[in-house]
Amino acid sequence: MRLVLLGSPGVGKGTQAKFITEKFHIPHISTGDILRAAVNEGSPLGRQVKQIIDEGGLVSDDIMIQLIKERLQRPDCINGFLLDGFPRTIDQAKHLEKILNEQHLPLDFIIQITVPEEEIVQRLSGRRIHPGSGRVYHLQHNPPKEKDKDDITGEPLILRPDDQEATVRRRLEVYRHQTEPLVNFYRSNEPLTFNNISQHPLYYEVDGNRPVEKVTQDLNTILGVESQTGKGQHH
Ligand code: AP5
Ligand code: MG
Repeated sequence: MRLVLLGSPGVGKGTQAKFITEKFHIPHISTGDILRAAVNEGSPLGRQVKQIIDEGGLVSDDIMIQLIKERLQRPDCINGFLLDGFPRTIDQAKHLEKILNEQHLPLDFIIQITVPEEEIVQRLSGRRIHPGSGRVYHLQHNPPKEKDKDDITGEPLILRPDDQEATVRRRLEVYRHQTEPLVNFYRSNEPLTFNNISQHPLYYEVDGNRPVEKVTQDLNTILGVESQTGKGQHH
């Protein structure tokens, strides 16, 4: 299964991606996690992108497209993958289409999670992450079993540097201008063409402004996992 999770900062892409990828045994490809790992390692890529991420801007399309191209060639993608945070511009979406076309691998699902902006600022101020795995927690909504410690490794949790309110607002603005147009790109009735076969990847919208488990239930329904309540909207 090959799917893309779309949605503005803080809607719960990373949170839900963990559940989906465990269930389907596919890699969780979060471009934000990949970039943050590069920053932590102090690699040339990390040094190049640190300031952009900290200020809530977007890393250039050239860098991101090259990065994702290499990542999708890794053998763990053979049975599918989940993309979280990519594509983020129309140009990235077009290149993704081209890369997958070359590999004969059309997307199966594009799922947009939506949450009102006021809620997002609150969510991100309470977020804590485990940098090693990308696991995500929230002080109130999704607390770790032991305070400030990752459930699996027991390692310390941290605040993301770009989760300060001013930076969150900047990220939301960047999202509105650069990423929101993707919704129409994917929603349009134009089928994507793969090797001369036209195919509509299934586009769904899920209301992310509900408890984590409710959102998970909707995603399970869309993806055909058993135990269903709630519905996604199919366009
Ligand atoms: P990235 O890491 O992708 O960040 P983002 O898109 O801003 O999204 P977040 O990770 O902040 O939110 P999320 O939707 O994953 O929410 P989460 O599950 O954590 O990108 C970071 C930066 O990298 C970008 O700004 C850019 O600079 C760069 N970058 C990355 N990809 C790029 C690309 N393709 N092109 C260019 N630049 C790129 O949840 C948030 C919080 O809410 C958590 O605390 C969670 O516990 C809680 N929560 C989750 N669900 C619920 C719920 N249902 N109810 C209550 N609380 C909830
Ligand atoms: Mg995330």
